[in-house]
Amino acid sequence: MKNSNTSLHFLSAAFLVVFLASCKQDSGTLVNPPVGSGNPGGNQPGVSPIPKTPGTIVSPANNPVDDPKFAARVELGRHLFYDPAFAVDGSTSCASCHSPGAGFSDPRSNEATSMGFQNRMGTRNAPALANIGYYIAITWDGKFKTLEDHALAPIFNNIEMGNNFSATGNDPITTGYYHSDPGANDTLFLFARLDGSNTRNHGLTDQNSTKRDKNGNNYYALLNNAWGTSTFSLDLIQKSIACFERTFVSTQSTFDRYNKGDVSVFKYNPEAIHGFQLFTDTAKANCIGCHNGYNFTDQKFHNNGLYTMASPITQKYDSGRVGISKDPADAFKFRTPGLRNVALSAPYMHDGRKTTLADVLDFYNRGGDPGVTNKDSKIKKLNLTDQDMSDIIEFLKTLSDPQFTSNGAYANPWR
Ligand code: HEC
Ligand code: HEC
Repeated sequence: MKNSNTSLHFLSAAFLVVFLASCKQDSGTLVNPPVGSGNPGGNQPGVSPIPKTPGTIVSPANNPVDDPKFAARVELGRHLFYDPAFAVDGSTSCASCHSPGAGFSDPRSNEATSMGFQNRMGTRNAPALANIGYYIAITWDGKFKTLEDHALAPIFNNIEMGNNFSATGNDPITTGYYHSDPGANDTLFLFARLDGSNTRNHGLTDQNSTKRDKNGNNYYALLNNAWGTSTFSLDLIQKSIACFERTFVSTQSTFDRYNKGDVSVFKYNPEAIHGFQLFTDTAKANCIGCHNGYNFTDQKFHNNGLYTMASPITQKYDSGRVGISKDPADAFKFRTPGLRNVALSAPYMHDGRKTTLADVLDFYNRGGDPGVTNKDSKIKKLNLTDQDMSDIIEFLKTLSDPQFTSNGAYANPWR
């Protein structure tokens, strides 16, 4: 009796697997129940707490993703994203610090933080941009709410692209004069450089400009296709870059295939399954306490227990969210980063102080750094074994999406 009962359970479990695999609904039913995971935080055994699909892209009403010209705007945005003419000295494009092969993070991993224009070092680590279109809290301290709002920030950041020089109206390259207050001349020089000329213009692109992409297109053509105008403006630049960024959608990782029901993908990787169980188990590693949702971020601000440390470059402390919210309770809190393609985006944390995922796991297993005030109550000693930690890393590696990182749609259009 007992035996037949067991096999009945087995059969119905097997049926359930097949049934669920054929289900097309959107929210989180996991095939191949994670055996032994109690998920006492409320996740049902066998039900993945991670949604199967990313949901809806957030786009503002004045730059909607369903506009008939969206594709042309993406194309213009791609050209801008890869255009080193954004930097005053023609050295740095967005892609210098956000490379698709590294999930749009900074692949120059010998440095903890990102290097910009004239090799100036920033104090923060460039995040991966996978699924950035789903974010409502942008940058480590959530300073920006939309990609449009953010897009001009690096362009006018003295360290990133150095476009702040206009007080004199002189050419910054010959005068070497920069300041941190963008003005009209900055934009006029910028528009001219983008168009391939070195005289200030008023954004008017030249139909005959010889600065052309691989397919022979210049900005005159791209701008007309996208917006029906020949004149650049900061507004159109930031909107076009945002359109391109909204196409950074990563949904084809090994984990996604598993999460959608393809049990076979983890067949030879029980370590990753175990790592996923630990990650989501609120009584074990409880990473899901903050790294939750499709992109493994709650998009909220936490102090995950890093001791405060002055930037070796500026000697200043980065106090995180409090700089934006002015609420002392937010001191040294940073936005939970998403973890898609995380294995490709070393180094880690807002200042890149952790070199490898093993360093990150060690850090969490210790309960973060000692003596950190304002540490989130979820950060505590975890008592994970070395095997547990390496299994969690195996799971994190399954969040890499080679179809995303090698997608030709994100390639440099200029060469
Ligand atoms: C010098 C390196 C560098 C350059 C050049 C650069 N970025 Fe970044 N990017 C960073 C760093 C560092 C951060 C984190 C900034 C912060 O948190 O304050 C960042 C953050 C971002 C974010 C927010 C990511 C998140 O997880 O919230 C987006 C989007 C982004 N950059 C897009 C761009 C675009 C578009 C350009 C070109 C116009 C660009 N970046 C140029 C280094 C760079
Ligand atoms: C209390 C919320 C919280 C919990 C719990 C938590 N994290 Fe984090 N995690 C964060 C925050 C916030 C950051 C960014 C901190 C910073 O840079 O100052 C972060 C950063 C990371 C990073 C670096 C990502 C990058 O792109 O730089 C990784 C990897 C990571 N966490 C993995 C984990 C794992 C694995 C666990 C479980 C063992 C875990 N986290 C538990 C909030 C949390």
